[in-house]
Amino acid sequence: MLSYISAKEAAEKWNISQRRVAILCSEERISGAMMVGNMWIIPANAEKPIDKRTVRYEKTHKVELKPFVKWVGGKGQLIEEIEKMLPSDGEKILTKYAEPMVGGGALLFNVISRYQFDELYISDINSELINAYIAIKQDVEALIERLNEMQMTFLPLDENGRKYYYYNVRDKFNTVKLSDSTSTEKAAYFIFLNKTCFNGLFRVNRKGLFNVPMGSYKNPTICDAENLRNIHGALQNVTIVCGDYSLSKSFIDGETFVYLDPPYRPISKTSAFTSYNSDAFDDNEQIRLAKFIDEINATGAKIVLSNSDPKNVNPEDNFFDDLYKSYRIHRVSATRMINSNAEKRGKINELLICN
Ligand SMILES: C[S@@+](CC[C@H](N)C(=O)[O-])C[C@H]1O[C@@H](n2cnc3c(N)ncnc32)[C@H](O)[C@@H]1O
Repeated sequence: MLSYISAKEAAEKWNISQRRVAILCSEERISGAMMVGNMWIIPANAEKPIDKRTVRYEKTHKVELKPFVKWVGGKGQLIEEIEKMLPSDGEKILTKYAEPMVGGGALLFNVISRYQFDELYISDINSELINAYIAIKQDVEALIERLNEMQMTFLPLDENGRKYYYYNVRDKFNTVKLSDSTSTEKAAYFIFLNKTCFNGLFRVNRKGLFNVPMGSYKNPTICDAENLRNIHGALQNVTIVCGDYSLSKSFIDGETFVYLDPPYRPISKTSAFTSYNSDAFDDNEQIRLAKFIDEINATGAKIVLSNSDPKNVNPEDNFFDDLYKSYRIHRVSATRMINSNAEKRGKINELLICN
């Protein structure tokens, strides 16, 4: 007699999500799978179907791109782990890439250096950051000229001279920041401040004014002209949007690889480094994001989401395990780059959640 296993058991056996099993059953890709009541049952001896999704590797060696800003929560360290989740052995090509909370774009720049996507979409709620992406895409030579001038003036100065120059640029940035237009001049101030301020932080006060003090870098590279030109080239087929991640829904479909890296849920009460702008990303925001992920999961997109692991601090905290119980949750080790207490930098687990 044929024996059956549940979708949950098949998901565990094949190391894919329960939702994916249900989709494969409904697409009739598991021979002998049956719906009983509202649940799928699967013959215990069924083979795992080959994942039809895949991405194309760039065959020619392209130039390596680096993020043009230092960004809190930058994902440089997790790239290898995230890359393992790019499906690579299937038939259906993933032709689109979406990163709706792009930040400094550590994964984006790695991905566009190495894989071929026909269409890409990036967005962020931080309008100054997005203004810089747009300036690089549309007006890179003017941006480079401006950054070069600033670099040549700033670097030879002594400490007092640098302070005077830095706070002057900060004031000018805050003046143009309040006019909500996009501009290359504003992008140049933004990149200069990012390269010279304390830890590359972007923090604003209640009035929306950037208030990070000067950092103490000896010889910061303010204008990396070669990298900016390379990014300019790579951004030409990228749609750049300033706004909420949910706007990406109209772009995402079954051919899309989506990477979402929201502001971290603070792992302790003292590490609330999530204020990239005035709105905090609280638990209600995490829940809204999880609902959005359910919506895009239904399109057949391949999704990877990263977040902090609350179990680092409280092993009983099941917030994300509960929120994403029908997805696969991987715990990977990383070193936190910015902590309110520098001595507390160290290895902790981060979450990679995928469908
Ligand atoms: C952890 S950072 C992303 C870091 C990025 N992965 C990197 O490598 O630099 C989170 C980003 O989400 C953005 N963000 C916060 N709320 C958002 C929202 N509702 N919609 C889109 N972006 C948002 C923040 O401005 C920030 O840049």
